[in-house]
Amino acid sequence: MQILVTGGSGFIGSHLAEYFVNEGHDVVALDVLDPFYNLELKRQNRKVAERSAEQTNGSYTFIEGSVLDTDLVGKLVSDTDAIFHQAAQAGVRTSVRNPTKVHEINVTGTMNLLEAARDTELTRFVNASSSSVYGKPKALPYDEEHPTEPVSPYGASKLAAEHYTRVYHEVYGVPTVSLRYFTVYGPRMRPNMAFTNFVSRCIHGEPPIIFGDGSQTRDFTYVEDIVDANARLLELDNADGIVLNIGSGDRITINELAKFIRDEINPDIDIRYESSRDGDTRHTHADIRKANELLGYEPTVSIKEGARLFADWYRNNVDWYDALVRQS
Ligand SMILES: NC(=O)c1ccc[n+]([C@@H]2O[C@H](COP(=O)([O-])OP(=O)(O)OC[C@H]3O[C@@H](n4cnc5c(N)ncnc54)[C@H](O)[C@@H]3O)[C@@H](O)[C@H]2O)c1
Repeated sequence: MQILVTGGSGFIGSHLAEYFVNEGHDVVALDVLDPFYNLELKRQNRKVAERSAEQTNGSYTFIEGSVLDTDLVGKLVSDTDAIFHQAAQAGVRTSVRNPTKVHEINVTGTMNLLEAARDTELTRFVNASSSSVYGKPKALPYDEEHPTEPVSPYGASKLAAEHYTRVYHEVYGVPTVSLRYFTVYGPRMRPNMAFTNFVSRCIHGEPPIIFGDGSQTRDFTYVEDIVDANARLLELDNADGIVLNIGSGDRITINELAKFIRDEINPDIDIRYESSRDGDTRHTHADIRKANELLGYEPTVSIKEGARLFADWYRNNVDWYDALVRQS
């Protein structure tokens, strides 16, 4: 198949591109190379997919451009069979600082793709949404019927994009699905996230920093499980217009995670606490039964196994990855 991955040089987009190339598909990765974090990491991400293309029947084409460029988007969408839309301005705190930029990329960018998809024979349009759409939990774990009351401009933008994605199925028949990812981590992940902070600081003998008292909890999802959920949607009929939670189905306090990683790497280090930050949700926890019933989705990596895998990967790639994390 011809597959378009937007945000294809980013963390999740590059894992999707690599997977689909390995499966023998022809992948086009569109990315504006936003300098939100070190661009060298995005170059490394591209190299992985390019190497896969050399070793398999799949192909990989990188296009530097924006989902806000309607001419480019129209051309790319008309040439594709399936779209995995990952391009976004991610990051809750960035959205608190610059909500209009986040709205433009996350909402208008998604609209541009949906608009271009209206009169095509697409097999699948997958929109990357987020657990941030839920906001303050009324009950945990969240199922998809839980009220959506985001507490950050980022969450509001992802919810608006999700609504348009559903409506474009309802009104125009575009075969859309939105996946609500719960905090994603793994090899080549974005810097400035709890996992990178904890591992990087412990490797350098520095105390990991927790924002708040550490009793907040997160459902963390290993990136391979995110890829698996997306891949299953290529095979699935009759699931159009739906929204699915994709998480690990478990959660951990930030205190427990920091201590677990600290003990794996350097048990002698203390933990440091700083004041909590705007826009953060206190708890996230995915109810993944719907994805399990419809897709057969079953997470394969528990949070602690994943923390160990990520710490090992970090140590094995410390020569290039660590510098990028420290500079971001
Ligand atoms: N990583 C997570 O924990 C997480 C959790 C929930 C949802 N998500 C969603 O998953 C998707 C991927 O996230 P990620 O962690 O890989 O982030 P990322 O920042 O690594 O990747 C996003 C990519 O989009 C690109 N981009 C930004 N603006 C663009 C534009 N106008 N046109 C084209 N490309 C553009 C960026 O350059 C970047 O490479 C996003 O939609 C994000 O909102 C991520």
